[in-house]
Amino acid sequence: MSATGDLANLQKEFEQQASAVVGREAWDALRIAWVGRKQGKLKDLMARMKDIPPEERRDYGQAVNRLKTTVEQRIQALDVELEAKEKAASRTVTALDVTLPGRKPSLGTLHPITLVARQIESIFAELGYSVAEGPEIEDDYHNFEALNFPPDHPARETQDTLFLERAQADDGTLGPKLLLRTHTSPVQIRTMLGREKPPIRVICPGRVYRNDNDLRHSPMFHQVEGLAIAEGLTFGDMKGTLDAFCKRLFSADTDIRLRPSFFPFTEPSAEVDVTCAACKGKGCATCSDTGWMEILGCGMVDPRVLEGCGIDPDRYSGYAFGLGIDRVAMNRYNIPNIRVLFENDERLLRQVRT
Ligand code: PHE
Repeated sequence: MSATGDLANLQKEFEQQASAVVGREAWDALRIAWVGRKQGKLKDLMARMKDIPPEERRDYGQAVNRLKTTVEQRIQALDVELEAKEKAASRTVTALDVTLPGRKPSLGTLHPITLVARQIESIFAELGYSVAEGPEIEDDYHNFEALNFPPDHPARETQDTLFLERAQADDGTLGPKLLLRTHTSPVQIRTMLGREKPPIRVICPGRVYRNDNDLRHSPMFHQVEGLAIAEGLTFGDMKGTLDAFCKRLFSADTDIRLRPSFFPFTEPSAEVDVTCAACKGKGCATCSDTGWMEILGCGMVDPRVLEGCGIDPDRYSGYAFGLGIDRVAMNRYNIPNIRVLFENDERLLRQVRT
C-alpha cells in the first residue's frame, strides 16, 4: 500500500477513536496516542519522508500536514465540547447544594380593610348577628326614600351622591334613576323587606361611594351597618352593645361617649366616640387633642322606617349603627392617608403582617 494510502487509513482510525470519546479521560488518552510528544502516532510520519520516492515526497508531505491539522483541530474541538459539559455539570451540582440555608416562602397577607372587617364580623357573630349583603348600585328608594330622606331633602346632597347616567329606551323613556350607594343603610331596608318577621340581628359590611376626596376621604370607602329589631329593644341595649363591641375591637379599657346627632332614619340619633387608641384619652395629634375618636353613627330606627318596611312600630323597636372600616384600619396601622389603603403597594401589606 502506498504511503498516502496509509495516511488515509490512519485518518479513518483516528476518526473512529475520536467519535468514541465521551469523557475527559478518553480525550486525554486520544490526545496522547495521536499527538503526544513521545509516542504520538503522527510524530514519525515526517521522519518516514526519506523512505518515500522523491517524486511522491511533495504530495506525501502535504497529506501529512493535512492529517496533522485535521487531528489537532478535532482534538481541540473535543476539548472545548468537554469543557462546556463540565461547566454545566458543575453548575447542576451547585444548584443542589444541600448545605445552603433554605429559602423562606413569601406568604401573602390580607389587606388591612379585610383584617378589620373580619374582626368586626366575628365580634358581632359572637353577639348573635349574621352577615347580610346588598348591591353597590342602588336606587333612590333603598338609598334615600325608604330611609326617610324626603325628596329634595338637603341630606341627599350632604352625602355627595354619585349618580349613574340614566339608560334611555328607543322611545325616549328614561330608565330608573340609579346611584352608587352612599352608605350601607339601604341593606337595612332590604333586610327588613326581605325577612318575614323580627327578631332581626344583622351586620352589613361593604363598599360605599361619595363624591369626596382628600387625605381622610376617598370616593370609595367601607362601612359596616348594624341593625337589630325585636320587641322591647331600647337605647340602653344599643349603648351596651356598642360599648361591648368597642371594647373588643380596640381594648378592654376603651370607653365610649355618645353625642346627640341627626340621621333621617333614626330618632333619637347619636354619634359615638371612643377613647383615642393612640394616646389612651390624654390628647394627641391623632385625636386633635380631644382624647376621643369619632367612629360610629347610630340611633333608634325611626318608626316611619319600620312601618314602611311592614314592621309594626307599636310592637317592635330597633336600633341601627354605621361604622367606617377604613378609619379603624388607618388608626390601627397608623396610616395617615386613606389613599395608601387603595394604592396596592405591596409594602403596606408587608407592614401590616402580624
Ligand atoms: N348611614 C349613616 C352614614 O353613613 C350612618 C348610620 C347608620 C347612622 C345607621 C345611624 C344608623 O352616615
